[in-house]
Amino acid sequence: MSLSDLLTHVAPDSPEAALARQVDFARLPKHVAVIMDGNGRWAAERHLPRVEGHRAGIESVRDTVESSARIGIGVLTLYAFSVENWKRPETEVMALMGLLRQYLRSELKTLLKNNIRFTVIGQPDRLSREVREELQAAEARTAGNTGMQFNIALNYGGRAEIVDAAKRAIRSGLPADALDQETFASFLYTAGQPDPDLMIRTSGEMRVSNFLLWQIAYAEIWVTETRWPDFRCRHLLEAIISFQKRDRRYGAVSSHPATVSR
Ligand code: FPP
Repeated sequence: MSLSDLLTHVAPDSPEAALARQVDFARLPKHVAVIMDGNGRWAAERHLPRVEGHRAGIESVRDTVESSARIGIGVLTLYAFSVENWKRPETEVMALMGLLRQYLRSELKTLLKNNIRFTVIGQPDRLSREVREELQAAEARTAGNTGMQFNIALNYGGRAEIVDAAKRAIRSGLPADALDQETFASFLYTAGQPDPDLMIRTSGEMRVSNFLLWQIAYAEIWVTETRWPDFRCRHLLEAIISFQKRDRRYGAVSSHPATVSR
């Protein structure tokens, strides 16, 4: 993707167009991970039930997925449901699952049109059979796509993923001495994918909330006060511009922004 591709999808005089011109398309983050937060607060601020915040958040998911693909992001991971989210009232959990199915039904065509590969990370076995079947169908239908990879983290926990990876490594029969960081990463849910270099969190909290704990070791974190249902392409562009101004040192001495390779 390029600036010209992106500009064909935004109004010429819009804030998005002005932001897009500031992006260096040769130095995009390879993997953007997003903690979508603030749906409940968005709803409360409007005297609406919490589920209306989640419903409005679907439009942000749609916009972020399409914008990321247009910008040329390689991998996008959205944190949709954590292992801890089962503690929410059953009606809210049911509503979230219903919205997920609704999203898959309405967006599969767009994913296919945009050459997006859809994958689930987490432990989907705890999800209902109906939800699992729909997720598997979407994964299968998009498996041959070669554009952006869109991971959705469902029943996901970073510590659970690391324990799962350790179990897989042990079961593989790999001798302990052969286990190094690269080999261990090949047992994670994100095997074969680049680590997130940019992690976005909406709604202001300064926490990583058990998200991609292994993979975010060197990620740049960008937090916005914007509630998830208000998050749009312009916020994503702001995050990328901020990322490109960071001095990424990986423990080395200072250099020019984002130029040290690992
Ligand atoms: C956090 O807001 C958001 C979630 C736990 C779920 C995110 C889900 C969606 C955007 C809808 C369905 C997802 C997809 C991918 C179609 P919160 O409820 O924790 O907000 P609060 O902290 O303000 O209460």
